[in-house]
Amino acid sequence: MKPQTPPKTYRVKSFGCQMNVYDGERMGELLNEQGLSQAREGEDADLVVLNTCHIREKAAEKIYSDIGRLTKGKTQKKAPMIAVAGCVAQAEGEEIMARAPAVSMVVGPQAYHRLPNMLDKAVQGERATDTDMPAIAKFDSLPVRKRRSPTAFLTVQEGCDKFCTYCVVPYTRGAEISRPFSDLIGEARKLIETGAREITLLGQNVNAWSGEDEAGRAVGLAGLIHALARLDGLERIRYTTSHPNDMDDALIAAHGEVEQLMPYLHLPVQSGNDRVLKAMNRSHKVENYLRLLERFRAVRPDIALSGDFIVGFPGETEAEFEDTLKLVDEVRYAQAYSFKYSPRPGTPAATMDGQIAKEVMDDRLQRLQARIDRDQFAFNKSKAGQTTSVLVERKGKHPGQWLGKSPWLQSVWFEGNVAIGDMVEVNLVEAGPNSLRGEIGGTS
Ligand code: SAH
Ligand code: SF4
Ligand code: F3S
Repeated sequence: MKPQTPPKTYRVKSFGCQMNVYDGERMGELLNEQGLSQAREGEDADLVVLNTCHIREKAAEKIYSDIGRLTKGKTQKKAPMIAVAGCVAQAEGEEIMARAPAVSMVVGPQAYHRLPNMLDKAVQGERATDTDMPAIAKFDSLPVRKRRSPTAFLTVQEGCDKFCTYCVVPYTRGAEISRPFSDLIGEARKLIETGAREITLLGQNVNAWSGEDEAGRAVGLAGLIHALARLDGLERIRYTTSHPNDMDDALIAAHGEVEQLMPYLHLPVQSGNDRVLKAMNRSHKVENYLRLLERFRAVRPDIALSGDFIVGFPGETEAEFEDTLKLVDEVRYAQAYSFKYSPRPGTPAATMDGQIAKEVMDDRLQRLQARIDRDQFAFNKSKAGQTTSVLVERKGKHPGQWLGKSPWLQSVWFEGNVAIGDMVEVNLVEAGPNSLRGEIGGTS
């Protein structure tokens, strides 16, 4: 590769989960430290970072077509320097380098703190791949947080040791690690100083987080949440994604004790059938999942429940799928995500017998989503007529219109004289399937 002009502007495109978005923000902060600035909307960037996700479908193929469009001038006028980051980079780094000569850098999700160094090399004409999973967390080498937003993500835990048979995450993100308590309090303080009023704690298994508090006591996620709740200026705390097996009494209790902890729980179950759960290596049963939810509802009756589902896992029969529908009928989720099973290279389920036909999966997904939509609409309607706090996150489509989130993570839109970052009292006057219309009361 020829030496390249040092890039002045960058754009990071994140394709994956919230942790992938968090990584994207942190790569942006690193590049800012290097003297680059973020390209404005519609403006060509000198460096484009494709921050990829490998969880479903033909993620890798999409990357190649994105690279093609960038180099052929279809996305922007001038072909940029290209870096591929994220979970596809981790899984297929070498292949990307071999197949896409236009790519200057490939960097995995545990190695992106070394991006500045790789960029220097790329400018000199040297292509670089870094998909190491160093034992020392990358977090120590990242710059201090500087973003300005009322809502912020904070990665507290990374990686996964669960090895569900369909999932790539343990391979792309590595083993479970918890960031130290004091680092997290420090990062949260910085986020609050720069305007965050709500922090969402992130982890592939966020409730597996463990650490030692300032007094040296062993604490779990609940201990961290209690400590964060004591920070001045932090009004809302959320966390995602939890695993049923890592749930403990303290975290359940925290939902009844910590005012700042929002009444929302995302607890993926994947299937409503025990045989399928076993084949997925989920290591929980339907019954204990339901009991767990009951315990959350006992301490926080208004809690909004959310989950993830996979339909068409290899061998799933119609009756087994119907068990998932039954589970949904029983739980009545406020919101949930459902996906068609996607065979991932290198995972055990990809080579299992009984792969399900696409039409069957399409049909199952549609039926499941219809029930989830029904319950989501019903949950939204149950809030109509109430007055609640809304954190203003952005402007709406029309002038004078604003969008924010209710404590139950519903999108609420309303008109009024407010600013981004205000916490407003809003009367929820009308419920739609995906959002609520509000009328403003007061601000704080
Ligand atoms: N750690 C979390 C979420 C991981 S990925 C958990 O264990 O629940 C987010 C969601 O993607 C999963 O909950 C699952 O529903 C879905 N998913 C993961 N691998 C998939 C695959 N191969 N096909 C379809 N959906 C998948
Ligand atoms: Fe994937 Fe299972 Fe780990 Fe979640 S718990 S990240 S679904 S392996
Ligand atoms: Fe995707 Fe990696 Fe997140 S595969 S879902 S970006 S952990």
